[in-house]
Amino acid sequence: MNDEYSKRIEAQDLTKEPPTEEPDRQYYFMKKCREIVKKKSEELGRPLTCNLTSFGCQMNARDSEKLCGVLEKAGYELTDSEEEADFIVYNTCTVRDNADQRVYGRLGHLNSLKKQKPHLKIALCGCMMQEPGVIEKLQKSYRFVDLIFGTHNLFRFAQLLSAMLASEDMIVDIWEKTDEIVEELPVKRKYFYKSGVNIMFGCDNFCSYCIVPYVRGRERSREPEEILCEIEKLVEDGVIEIMLLGQNVNSYGKNLEHPISFAELLRRVEKIEGLRRIRFMTSHPKDLSDELIEVMQHSTKICRHLHLPLQAGSNRILQAMNRRYTKETYLALVERIRHAIPDMAITTDIIVGFPGETPADVEETIDVVRKVQFDNAFTFIYSPRTGTPAAAMENQVPPESVHESFDKLLLEVQKTAKSRAALLEGKVMEALVEGVNEQDPAFVTGRLGNNMLVHFRADRRLIGKTVMVVLDTCHGFYYTGRMVDWTSQTGHTRLGKMVDNQWLN
Ligand code: 5AD
Ligand code: SF4
Repeated sequence: MNDEYSKRIEAQDLTKEPPTEEPDRQYYFMKKCREIVKKKSEELGRPLTCNLTSFGCQMNARDSEKLCGVLEKAGYELTDSEEEADFIVYNTCTVRDNADQRVYGRLGHLNSLKKQKPHLKIALCGCMMQEPGVIEKLQKSYRFVDLIFGTHNLFRFAQLLSAMLASEDMIVDIWEKTDEIVEELPVKRKYFYKSGVNIMFGCDNFCSYCIVPYVRGRERSREPEEILCEIEKLVEDGVIEIMLLGQNVNSYGKNLEHPISFAELLRRVEKIEGLRRIRFMTSHPKDLSDELIEVMQHSTKICRHLHLPLQAGSNRILQAMNRRYTKETYLALVERIRHAIPDMAITTDIIVGFPGETPADVEETIDVVRKVQFDNAFTFIYSPRTGTPAAAMENQVPPESVHESFDKLLLEVQKTAKSRAALLEGKVMEALVEGVNEQDPAFVTGRLGNNMLVHFRADRRLIGKTVMVVLDTCHGFYYTGRMVDWTSQTGHTRLGKMVDNQWLN
């Protein structure tokens, strides 16, 4: 209990009214939760446990780390087992209908768990909770859920948790929007060596298929000083790789009182000593500036990986999607990036089956895939989202009829990704060791700057460190390799010696 967050909790006086200022108000409620949780665990004779599942994107994963931060401070022990938990939290996604269906499916199972264990508490939060109609459905058919909140009031989790612990009724608190960004709340990171960092929240792009602006609200950037301070603290705490997170990072800072470009933010982040790798997500092609390309080109820390969602290759469809670029401008942008930074890996997202899309339109997309040679692409079948302009378009395409085009696109994507990956076979690259290999504990898995994975024999004590690896064999979407003597490249202490593929200490 001697970290900064715990000190703030300790400083709260529960005999007084809760503070009105954030984040102190939340620290007050964390202390309150802590007392209730302590009492309940004394009754049970064991610690109360909590299991959290995060659905969706990196942004949600980061939110989940914030939720876990509060849960831990509230006195819960985090467990991987849903069956054993006293409290289950789902941080939901709603980007496509199948994300919603997955949650409804799992709720059925939670209902039977709760019948066996009546003291079990269940909370739902995140993007799906902001979607029209969902709350009504949950209130009607899923009465066993104890707490429901959305994306805008996530910072109030401690307060909501304390209300839930003191009540037997379903608590629902959904905000339509917020302008508030509450800083300095506890976070429990999943990885000690890497972390996401929110630089902005929400989205103002209104791509016609996308529900995100409705569920995450208007675009709000954090102050650069807050971001830099957070990263400095993370680095002090052992983090060497950060992922700057935003729905549209390229428009970062435009609406701040003292506007600053994303490229300028990157320049400042680059200067943080001890930070080794910088990633960011997601870039909108319409806002990717030449200034940003220049910063990436001269950076020694920004990873050679750019996720640049294409969505479609047909100009007619791009226009209907409200993407505000054309096939030609997208291709020209990729050309500028690859000219400046030839080793830049480019990945993308593609949607098939948007209203009015024909097989000829998908051919245009395939043409872009061939021309760009994406290093990887996530392909999705269009899913109508209630409330978005595209869902109301008349020319909806039945999902059954897009499978042929979808499969054709997927084949092309796999082909180009494989041929891009093969180009690196035999090369020596830096990998950040992320964990022990799932199949063989004598191996570890490392992530390359281009976001691909390499498996190689090494000591698990290297987790969280960067090492140089020869990419011996390309297996399509990952490599197997060998660690090389990396003392000279990194200046780190040498841990041992590689002999016959074995790392000796
Ligand atoms: N249907 C299918 N895919 C979608 N995406 C966003 N909205 C939809 C939708 N309604 C995809 C986009 C986006 C990725 C995160 O999800 O490709 O880039
Ligand atoms: Fe992330 Fe979008 Fe899913 Fe929300 S709806 S979790 S922002 S992908």
